[in-house]
Parts: sequence; C-alpha cells; structure tokens
Amino acid sequence: MLKLGVNIDHTATLREARYRGRTDGEPVPVEAAHICEAAGAHGITAHLREDRRHIQDRDVWKLRETIATRLNLEMANVPEIVSLAIKLRPDIVCLVPERREEVTTEGGLDVAAHEAALTETRKRMNDANIEVSLFIAPEARQIAAAARTGAQFVELHTGQFAEHFHDPSRQTTELRRLVDGARQAHALGLQVNAGHGLNYQNLAALHQVPHLVELNIGHSIISRAVLVGLSTAVKEMLALMQNYPG
Ligand code: PXP
Repeated sequence: MLKLGVNIDHTATLREARYRGRTDGEPVPVEAAHICEAAGAHGITAHLREDRRHIQDRDVWKLRETIATRLNLEMANVPEIVSLAIKLRPDIVCLVPERREEVTTEGGLDVAAHEAALTETRKRMNDANIEVSLFIAPEARQIAAAARTGAQFVELHTGQFAEHFHDPSRQTTELRRLVDGARQAHALGLQVNAGHGLNYQNLAALHQVPHLVELNIGHSIISRAVLVGLSTAVKEMLALMQNYPG
C-alpha cells in the first residue's frame, strides 16, 4: 500500500503570517496533524528551517509528543538542526538542501558532492535510532551516491515532473526519469519515497513509477483544505493513491 505523509508546513505559514514572534496563534499545526491522522494519513512531515519561517521548535516538540503515526522531520544538514533532531528523535529525517531566498525546497541534494558529510550525519541519526532519507533528483549519479551513504530511503524529487505535467512530451521524459530512478534505487537496496509538487491532477500518472513506499504532499492538500476541509482533502488524496500497483 502506498503511504501518505502530509506536510503541514503551510498551516504554520498561515499562522506566522499573522502571529510571527508570538508563542501562540492559529491555526495550530499539531491540531492539523491530528486531523490528518484521523483521516488516514500514515505520517506527518514538517520542515524545521534554519530561518524558522513557518514551523517553530515548539511545533516539532508538540508533534513528537502527540502524533500517533510517523514523524518525518525535513531538515538541512547543519549542526544546529542535526543536534536538535538527535534530541527530538523523529522516526525519520529527510535531509534537504536549504537556501534562504527560496520559496520552497527547489532542488535536490547534491549527495555526490557532499557524500562524506551526509554519511557522517546518516551514521549519527541511525545511532539515535532515526532513519534517514535523502531528497534527490532522479539522477543516476545522485542515487548511487545516496546508496553509498548508507541511507535507508531516498525521496525522489517530483518537482520537474509536476512543473512540466501539462506538456505531454516533457511529462513522458520526467516520468521516465522517475521510473528509472526508482528502479535503480530499489536495486541498490534503498526504499523509495517521492514528493514535491504532487497534486490531485498529477497523482494518477505517478502510479507508473514502481517501488514507491510513501508520498510526501503538502501544498495541494493544505490548499484544498481551505475549500473542503482538511479531513476531506486528505481522504480525497488517499483515494487517488489507492490501487497503486507497486
Ligand atoms: N518533500 C520535500 C523534501 C519537500 O521539501 C517538500 C516541500 O516542503 C515536499 C515534499 C512537499 O512539497 P509540496 O508542498 O509541493 O507538496
């Protein structure tokens, strides 16, 4: 069964738009997490950015204390956040590149260029019983490097696929890259997640990509939630993920 991890960052984005610098305010991300879980989500994802633009430290601690499913902490491989993650003990961390000027995570990690540092962090996380995923573009060189770090998972970046979804020839090319990447990662013993830009329109096409374990989806679910409610938005996405052939 293909699992859904809901990225709740945007609930914090909305709160921070009004209540930045305060220690309370609505909406409360952890309440959103509980609604996602009750609607059938298999995990909750939150990105604690160095600039704390949306999710705050208190959010991840509250998530850790209260959610019943898996906590996936997205994070940059920087000392401050690595130390925090080791104290927090999420079930899994997804290491992502982070640039202050970006609106959202734009590219994948250059694992090939940072293999030693990522391997070191991978070991520290695993020693603390935290699984490790690396967010990478579906490129053979990056997938091979990810396997060498000893990571348990890769999360294939679906941003290009999503971006070019309405151009049939580019969609075919990008899907092919994801199919090849998933096959390579699986053959190397990596478990395969995917995410970024996935939505209610492009989800069906992703069923062509084999070996997927979990999708991490944020923007489209939270956007739909504004119109139909979070529980319905999660259930609608889960319905589209049903019958994934594996
Ligand atoms: N996966 C990763 C690694 C991400 O950085 C993000 C965005 O925070 C997502 C998934 C979710 O992307 P989206 O909000 O476009 O669904």
